[in-house]
Amino acid sequence: AASTRYEAESATISQGSVAANHTGYSGTGFVDYTNVTGSYVQWSVSVAGAGSAGLVLRYANGTSVNRPMDISVNGTVVSAGKAFNGTGSWDTWADGTLTVTLNAGANTIRATATTANGGPNVDHLTVTTQTGAGPAVP
Ligand code: GCU
Repeated sequence: AASTRYEAESATISQGSVAANHTGYSGTGFVDYTNVTGSYVQWSVSVAGAGSAGLVLRYANGTSVNRPMDISVNGTVVSAGKAFNGTGSWDTWADGTLTVTLNAGANTIRATATTANGGPNVDHLTVTTQTGAGPAVP
């Protein structure tokens, strides 16, 4: 298996901003989703071969209220209202995981807030391809 990390601050952001006012993130910051339904981060992910891939969304939620998001792959929601529960503080990051199927070549992966609180803070997406699918290509 091969893993590639895609920073949220380098992705396409709709109704969110790059921030660095909390500790523990990778890269140069994280995305602070605007507190509205529909705010999203979208990554472009290219893989050499079609097949199953593991996704890990690194996030922080300093509230005690779930900040659910729809996870979509190439425009299809594959995990509706996936929970991103409180992590204890905005400086404490946790992993949201799921397994998806990717096409060979380019794919879009989008994480869209489904409540008026917006999403959690999102640090990065890690994509791990399965044996035989070839390495993720940044
Ligand atoms: C606080 C926190 C932000 C967070 C925001 C929110 O302002 O500092 O990082 O994004 O709450 O509720 O979404």
